[in-house]
Amino acid sequence: MVAGRRQPLVPAWGGDPPPFLPCDLEQAGGTGPAPLGLLISFAPIWSFAPWLAGLAARDPAGVGALQGVVACSSSSVITKRFAANGFDRDLVQRLRRAEEQLTLTCAAHGLPLRILAPTLIYGQAGLLGDRNLSQLRRLLRRLPLLPLPGQGGLRQPIHCRQLAAVALHLADRLPLAGDHPSEPVHLPLGGDDTLPYATMLRRLQDATEPGDAARRCRLLALPPRLFQTLAAPLLLLSPKRFEAVLRMGADLAGFTPAHRLLGGPPEPFPVLPLVP
Ligand SMILES: NC(=O)c1ccc[n+]([C@@H]2O[C@H](COP(=O)([O-])OP(=O)(O)OC[C@H]3O[C@@H](n4cnc5c(N)ncnc54)[C@H](OP(=O)(O)O)[C@@H]3O)[C@@H](O)[C@H]2O)c1
Repeated sequence: MVAGRRQPLVPAWGGDPPPFLPCDLEQAGGTGPAPLGLLISFAPIWSFAPWLAGLAARDPAGVGALQGVVACSSSSVITKRFAANGFDRDLVQRLRRAEEQLTLTCAAHGLPLRILAPTLIYGQAGLLGDRNLSQLRRLLRRLPLLPLPGQGGLRQPIHCRQLAAVALHLADRLPLAGDHPSEPVHLPLGGDDTLPYATMLRRLQDATEPGDAARRCRLLALPPRLFQTLAAPLLLLSPKRFEAVLRMGADLAGFTPAHRLLGGPPEPFPVLPLVP
């Protein structure tokens, strides 16, 4: 069963949408009884954790009868820990507080828990698509030239299908693993390829149709210091954007690759389908 604010769309591959339970996590704990079975959450963890805590306060027996919880947090809790701008520091605090609250709720009710902390999610599932690599590809379509700090830092993007497969795989094993897991509760997670920013963009270009405008954009590797100097005026306009531009040169990789958990062969970037 799928729960959320919006009814799932009819799957692109046909068939009926899965049974749907309307649920807004901002209404702490909702009003109905606890769901049965096992919870997998792809919602922001700062909405999911207080919701589950509220539900546990209202229906402790129902929550205690659950088989376990798999919830999505973000690798930002690690990678933005030392950010200089307040927005990113607040994000880290919100993620960390929510992870702690979820851990406490699950421990209090004996629920096995896995927190996935994925990096850079991309790809398309049915009619839904990502809003990060697809935006980069739109930028490539618009610009004749994209300056980069050298080859840029390392990235380890994960396709939404891989993330969903890992969540289901862990959920299947959770009732057996119990709350004495042999694997870590907090799992930083990435795709199977680790590649420099410039290579990631080149592969995105290569994955477009032959005449696509994204292929024409030239990637210009500047000396990192020159790149940072050119980006400096952005600091006055938006410290958050300035830091995001600086992060292009930082290595945001080294997370557990999805295939290591799933047991199959590694899938090279980009895994398809992408947002057109
Ligand atoms: N995007 C990334 O690159 C990235 C990177 C690292 C971690 N993450 C984490 O990975 C997960 C999935 O990412 P995403 O970008 O797909 O997240 P998202 O767009 O913010 O939300 C994912 C899902 O959560 C549902 N949701 C959000 N708020 C809800 C609420 N109050 N009540 C019920 N459902 C709610 C959304 O439903 P609606 O359709 O109703 O909005 C949507 O189906 C999130 O936990 C996110 O924090 C994302």
